[in-house]
Amino acid sequence: MKSPRSFFEPLAVGAPEPYRTLPVRLERMIHFVPPHNEKVRAKIPDLAGTVDVILGNLEDAIPADQKEAARRGFIEMAKATDFGDTGLWTRINSLDSPWVLDDVLEIVPAVGDKLDVIMVPKVNGPWDIHYFDRLLAQLEARHGIGKPILLHAILETAQGVENISAIAQASPRMHGMSLGPADLAASRGMKTTRVGGGHPLYRVFADPSDTQEARPSYQQDLWHYTIARMVDACVAAGIKAFYGPFGDFQDPVACEAQFQNAFLMGCDGAWSLHPSQIDIAKRVFSPDPDEVAFAKKIIDAMPDGSGAVMIDGKMQDDATWKQAKVIVDLAKAVAS
Ligand code: GLV
Ligand code: MG
Repeated sequence: MKSPRSFFEPLAVGAPEPYRTLPVRLERMIHFVPPHNEKVRAKIPDLAGTVDVILGNLEDAIPADQKEAARRGFIEMAKATDFGDTGLWTRINSLDSPWVLDDVLEIVPAVGDKLDVIMVPKVNGPWDIHYFDRLLAQLEARHGIGKPILLHAILETAQGVENISAIAQASPRMHGMSLGPADLAASRGMKTTRVGGGHPLYRVFADPSDTQEARPSYQQDLWHYTIARMVDACVAAGIKAFYGPFGDFQDPVACEAQFQNAFLMGCDGAWSLHPSQIDIAKRVFSPDPDEVAFAKKIIDAMPDGSGAVMIDGKMQDDATWKQAKVIVDLAKAVAS
């Protein structure tokens, strides 16, 4: 595969450093806000500092006749707010929409110096990322934006899943990828109207048996395959993986379970579409204190990370030392 760095060569103004080394930043929740809503905008200064990332959403859920107001509102809130350690992202409209070009052409010159990440929806292949990569390089050069704006793809088309590794490796600007279960379900022709989570009809039955009164069955995770595929593609490319939205705000238990599965499988965070999901994400994507205590025991028992020891009756070796390091490093990031 051609080196993605070559996308920058014609425009090596102020030669960007390798972005593939992502900033080590906690991004447990990407909190979505609708920027055309004045009341929501008024709360942004309080939100900054309490969530890891604030994302001004310009795409789905913003009505067509409010797209320009949302874009203007995003620029206004970006200019007016000191975000401190909170990341500032926007989700632009998709490449097949009439709004996307103006989204980028208006936002980047106005607030590109404050913008950390552009989330690109409905990415079908690396070509979609290449388009934004070059456009951003030109705008950054023209407007003297020194810090490169990163790109985050939503995995929400069957074609995108087919091209997942090429998307993850499409550019040094790639920050990560989120699963978009609503659009992906539609794209695949899945027969569900839910946004993430399980489905009562997606289950496996135990074999029939004379001794069983009621034959047990277990609901399965509809998203297991896609999350696993996404995590592998992202880790192989050195970028981050995220679970996306959970649409049923009345069901915090199922939301937490979905986030928890994603966390265990390697995701760094999830979207919060409702304020009640902020704390769920914060809790789930921070390591459990008992796990951290056990992981520290492993690291203390194997200072150079090699050999084999028994702790609390469990065998530990070089591989479990690495597992422990993942948990301890995350705990340190949460504490700092
Ligand atoms: C998110 O955009 C989704 O389609 O689930
Ligand atoms: Mg979507």
